[in-house]
Amino acid sequence: MEIFAHRGASGNFPENTIAAFMEAARLPVFGVEFDVHMTADGELVVIHDESIDRTSDGTGYVKDMSLAELKKHDFGNWFSPEFLGETIPTLADVLEVFDSTDHKLNIELKSDIFPYEGMVEKVLDLIAERQMESRIIISSFDHSAISTVKRFNPQIETAALFMEVLVHPMDYLNKIPTDALHILFPAALRPTIAEVINSGMPVRTFTVNDKTYAQTLKQAGVQAIFTDYPEKLYSFFLSK
Ligand code: G3P
Ligand code: MG
Repeated sequence: MEIFAHRGASGNFPENTIAAFMEAARLPVFGVEFDVHMTADGELVVIHDESIDRTSDGTGYVKDMSLAELKKHDFGNWFSPEFLGETIPTLADVLEVFDSTDHKLNIELKSDIFPYEGMVEKVLDLIAERQMESRIIISSFDHSAISTVKRFNPQIETAALFMEVLVHPMDYLNKIPTDALHILFPAALRPTIAEVINSGMPVRTFTVNDKTYAQTLKQAGVQAIFTDYPEKLYSFFLSK
């Protein structure tokens, strides 16, 4: 079972911060997942929510703030005072952390609520600049963004994200088109997902922090899990 550190090692570190990514980079896990939004001045930043309210000492939407404004806020103290001083990372900052590791990097484009015009092009340009194409999976709940990635660069691996129970998933996935399916844990165990697995398309499941569920998914043929506790799940599969 391949293990992805979800939002970095987000169980024990503030999600989507350099602290969480440094921990993931230290671990011998397969990959890391993180979420990308775009600022008012067109910068790519790594944060899960559309707003900074939950994970910082500030309020407001990322799309309405410049990178300089966002950088004034603390993104560590909400999690624990130990992490006071963490700031919002840019996508370039995060790619830099993994520059000399061999982790697979799953960039999730969070353009499903706000469309972030031009974000796909900016992400692809940055990946090309850093020559990281072969290490990247771009995923999104915004399947139009996945289509756009494939149109601009068919070599980049993509994944469509779903939370729903799917009917005839292969018809839809091939239409987008996409290389893989990333799906919420309970929906991953429905019989229609076995069709996807049997077709040879990778199926990866989020968010799995429980060892028993992870084992069940492995038996079902799921290729990878996203977990907030990468070290724990990695050790579990190592011991099997
Ligand atoms: O990419 C897997 C997972 O991160 C999708 O859901 O809400 O945690 O970004 P979310
Ligand atoms: Mg995500």
